[in-house]
Amino acid sequence: KKSVRDVEVSGKVVFVRVDFNVPLEDGKITDDTRIRATIPTIEYLTERGAKVLLASHLGRPKGEVVDSMRLTPAAERLSELLGKPVAKTDESIGDAVKAKIAELKDGDVLVLENVRFHKGEEKNDSELAKEFASLADLFVNDAFGAAHRAHASTEGIAHHLPAVSGLLMEKELDVLGKALSNPERPFTAIVGGSKVKDKIDVIDNLLNIADNVLIGGGLAYTFFKAQGYEIGQSLLDDSKFDVALGFIEKAKKLGKNFHLPVDIVISDDFSATANTKIINVEEGIPADWEGIDIGPKTREIYADIIAKSKLVVWNGPMGVFEIEPFSHGTRAVGEACAATEGYTIIGGGDSAAATEKFGLAEKMNHISTGGGASLEFMEGKALPGVVALNDK
Ligand code: 3PG
Repeated sequence: KKSVRDVEVSGKVVFVRVDFNVPLEDGKITDDTRIRATIPTIEYLTERGAKVLLASHLGRPKGEVVDSMRLTPAAERLSELLGKPVAKTDESIGDAVKAKIAELKDGDVLVLENVRFHKGEEKNDSELAKEFASLADLFVNDAFGAAHRAHASTEGIAHHLPAVSGLLMEKELDVLGKALSNPERPFTAIVGGSKVKDKIDVIDNLLNIADNVLIGGGLAYTFFKAQGYEIGQSLLDDSKFDVALGFIEKAKKLGKNFHLPVDIVISDDFSATANTKIINVEEGIPADWEGIDIGPKTREIYADIIAKSKLVVWNGPMGVFEIEPFSHGTRAVGEACAATEGYTIIGGGDSAAATEKFGLAEKMNHISTGGGASLEFMEGKALPGVVALNDK
């Protein structure tokens, strides 16, 4: 795919799709990683005299104007990070926006309003896509985090303007693409999270590619139940027993090391003051208790495998890491990733949040800015926001 480096940008109005879908609490941004990640592209453009329009969604306003989902806090944060003023409009299309653009000087930055305030955005409406396109001379997609969405500002617009990737998009595709197409071995994939159904495709694809697949989190209990162990009140998807057993079969057939936890932390309540116990999986979980983390033996086994790996891809926490007594498994896996000499990729979303929470982010080689997008990438799916860009 072509990147912003392959085209002339000087003096042009450039519509840059970014993913400024950042967490907010009382109007304050609690994690600005995604904003910081777009700085290289923005500075690349402004330093070369482009006029930069930034478009993003925030939350799911469903086609309505929702004040708490305006991009004003993101524009303010961006201005601090760039160390220069950043203009902001309260629309993303139309004459008022065009008037603002006409006032821009080369190197200026204008943040448009949340594109999801328009119903056409998520419908990938072609009229809206044309409206976006009419604002600019060039489309740059730097929103890796939204690349799995075929929306007007991620996919539709690419049909109406020259369309290239930004530097963040390029880096994400490069790192994830190389890792999965030509992995250094041993390659270990760690898959956690709460629901089996969300991770079926990723486990399936990673079983084809990786040497070791380590399972943790709530999804493990469906495997245990399918194998005939008691799981008490643990998370369960009883329509997925065949899928779970199928993975164990597939791993055997392909000669892959497929690891389920051997011991687990169980609790009698979903709170920080709950009673907890460590049990071996075969013992079975008592009826009123539930599994909430991987146990110490499993942590050691997983850490050992991670230490010996040349490449590690991690998607999904090992337990309820938001609650301190249930966080040790996720922390242990994070620490093992931080310590290994192998190349480590954190697949966005919850695992990225965990890495950040435990202060391990600096020690990882790549933390994806995509949650759903990195998951779909690891599932081997094509991302519509990428497919729509111009080829080399
Ligand atoms: C994300 O946070 O994963 C992206 O910004 C996409 O958001 P969405 O799931 O609301 O489309």
